[in-house]
Amino acid sequence: MKKLVLICFVCLIAGGGFIFLFNRHQKSKILAQYSEEARPSIKATKIKDYNKTLDVMASSSSYNKDHIDSYLEIEYVSQPDFPNKVETLLNKNYKPEEINKIFASLSETNVTKLLNKDYLDLNNFYQISNFDVDLYDEYIAYQKEKNLDWDKAVTYVNLHLNHNFYENIETVENPDDLLVLVNKFHALPADYEPDDLVNVGQYSYKMRKVAAESLEQLMAAAALENMNLIPFSTYRSYDYQKGLYEYYLQTDDVSVVDTYSARPGHSEHQTGLACDIRSSVLNDNLTDHDYQWMLDNSYKYGFIVRYPKGGSEITGYVEEPWHIRYIGVEHATKVHDLGITYDEYYDLYLKKS
Ligand code: DAL
Ligand code: ZN
Repeated sequence: MKKLVLICFVCLIAGGGFIFLFNRHQKSKILAQYSEEARPSIKATKIKDYNKTLDVMASSSSYNKDHIDSYLEIEYVSQPDFPNKVETLLNKNYKPEEINKIFASLSETNVTKLLNKDYLDLNNFYQISNFDVDLYDEYIAYQKEKNLDWDKAVTYVNLHLNHNFYENIETVENPDDLLVLVNKFHALPADYEPDDLVNVGQYSYKMRKVAAESLEQLMAAAALENMNLIPFSTYRSYDYQKGLYEYYLQTDDVSVVDTYSARPGHSEHQTGLACDIRSSVLNDNLTDHDYQWMLDNSYKYGFIVRYPKGGSEITGYVEEPWHIRYIGVEHATKVHDLGITYDEYYDLYLKKS
């Protein structure tokens, strides 16, 4: 009997020892997977698996052992300064699942901006590609005021539409860019004049070379379908636009003039990329037939109808069937297919964040 007890005792000790050694072996196998810098911190934990986020955090000076459980829920992403970003966000009380969405949806620029702000509830914004952290308060206020969908609220605020027209004006930095956005909030420098203006075909009207050539192709295509389209205003200098705007003011109130004429510096005509075009039978417009053709076909030649029906809230101008703007075939096709204004398109797809 005594012998049996002794045997059991020995077995127990041996078994315990075996388990102890096995666990130690497992732990050192796991530890070996972590980078050398992380190992001292990992050794002090009960971690049973390899975790990339934990490895990166434990290798950095941002590591906080009280946040281990959170680290394990955060997906590692390759972003500059990842450990500091994770730790800063956790300290601002973002939950791991929020941090995962932040890294998955927000640009690096936006993530960096977040680090300098108090906690923000971003639930309405993760899916909105043109969301800008800096404008968060304006989005909230404008969405509440107008009861818009969140994506619209974001685009409209980005376009400054929560301000009156001609307030909050920015001077464009890229006046020569074929995709330049010129509107009531984005002005061209007064002295800007394109340096590649040429005549449009036989006409003495000038546009930038690529736009002039494309317009000739558009007019030729229209001619094949028995339409006679004629340019009647193309490049206009700042001073010319100033004279025109002041001329209109002699007969109309400023609030009316602003619905159909740009103030100097704010006209696309100064870019050399816009053209007012008419049907030969009319003074300053297109026939309904020709307008429809323009809506359906101008994109094939790189042009968009810049002030479409229904766009006044965004463009600030009444519908102008005759005013077309060159942006190149690729983008004109997209604007046409999306059926949005160029202002919206620019903010959604072209603006550099
Ligand atoms: N009529 C357009 C808006 C302009 O003046 O440029
Ligand atoms: Zn025009």
